[in-house]
Parts: sequence; structure tokens; C-alpha cells
Amino acid sequence: MPKDVIIACDFNSQEATLKFLDNFSNEKPFVKIGMELYYACGPAIVEKIKDRGHKVFLDLKLHDIPNTVKKALSVLADLEVDMTNVHASGTISMMEAAAEGYYAKNPNGILIAVTQLTSTTEERMQKDLLIDKPLPDVVAHYALNTKKAGLKGVVCSPLESPIVHELCGSDFLTVTPGIRFATDAKGDQARVTTPADAKKLGSDYIVVGRSITGAADPYEAYKQCLADFLN
Ligand code: C5P
Repeated sequence: MPKDVIIACDFNSQEATLKFLDNFSNEKPFVKIGMELYYACGPAIVEKIKDRGHKVFLDLKLHDIPNTVKKALSVLADLEVDMTNVHASGTISMMEAAAEGYYAKNPNGILIAVTQLTSTTEERMQKDLLIDKPLPDVVAHYALNTKKAGLKGVVCSPLESPIVHELCGSDFLTVTPGIRFATDAKGDQARVTTPADAKKLGSDYIVVGRSITGAADPYEAYKQCLADFLN
């Protein structure tokens, strides 16, 4: 099972992104392109980063009616990214449609689904979304739905990796944002752990943004994440 650190390149221009990636001249980290960067630069940024030799997780979190999501993923599959995602709350039929659209063109790609955002607390989920269950149960249920729909894993907090693996199997991927070094501020994230704890909890990939992009020395912060998560 591959384990890796994915850097969330949450920048608003190609220039800022490539300047940041210049910090890693000897390495080719797995890179996450999210909404901010993709909406600023379009598909060209995906090609640019792939051409530099990085693997790409395109994190656009699609959530719409099944037909729209299927067609959108068919278009995104042409970008040949290594990983992309939808929201599990779009239901099993939306995820099945997503899988059809994506895997028809990119059978070796990794399509995953967001369970509950790592910025969501149980209290907010219950009060704002009227989901009247414990948060880990909701994540576990969404993970089972994701598996039923034929996707390869979920985005969740490392805190939920054990229950997801227990229910869905050890080869069902847990891709886990909400990562902070012990000394970092949480910011808008709620369900956070350190890279070392994510390793103990069995996460397959950790997604790290500000703890690397905002570090005084991003290269050192990345190496620290790798050491804490992989060793
Ligand atoms: O800066 P930070 O490490 O909090 O960044 C986390 C990244 O992971 C952001 O790009 C965010 O959009 C993404 N993400 C998340 N929680 C999810 C899904 C994606 O934080 N459930």
C-alpha cells in the first residue's frame, strides 16, 4: 500500500505555485491542486505541474446531480490526474455516476469521496446540517456508501482512519487532511492530528497545506512530515 505526503498548493497563481515548488528541486512531492488554484489557472496548471514530474491530486470536490457529475468527471479524466474526488453526501447514485464517468477513461486513477470536511465539528454537523448522529458514525456510513459505489477511498480525518479501515478493508484508502505539527495553529480545521499520529492511526496519505506552505522553510517542513509519517 503506497503511503505518501501530499502538499496542498493553495495558491492563487501559477507564478506563486511554481516558485513554491522550486523549493523542492531534488524531490517531486505529490501535489494537491484545489479550487483556489484550479479556478485561478484552469487545466493548464495541472499540465504544468505534471510536466515537472509531480503526481497530482485534483481536489475539486464535485457535488451535483449524477448526470452532471458523470460528465464533469469524464472531462476531468482527460487531465490524467492521479487522484480526484467528489462529495459522498451527493449519494451513492451520484458516486456511481462519477465512477462511470471517470474510470471509463482513467481506470488506474484514484477516485475518492469526501466524508465530512475536517473543518466540521460534530456540533456544527448536528446543528447546521441536522445530521443527528455521532460524527464518526456519519463518516463510517459515508465510507461504506463510497465503497458500494465503487470508489477507491475517502477523504476523512486521521482520527477516523481506523474505523474506515475496519469497515471497508485495509486496501480502501484514507486520504487525510487536518494535519498540523504540535506547535502549529489549527486555523479553520477542527479534527486535526500530527503527521506522527496520522501514521499511528493508519492513514494512507496525509494532505498538508499551511504547515508546509506557511513554514519558514517549506522544504524542511516537508522532510519532517515525511520522516514523521513514513518512518
Ligand atoms: O492548510 P491545511 O493543511 O488546513 O489544508 C488542508 C487542505 O485539504 C485544503 O486544501 C483543504 O481544502 C483540503 N481539505 C480539507 N478537508 C477535507 C477535504 C480537503 O482540509 N475534508
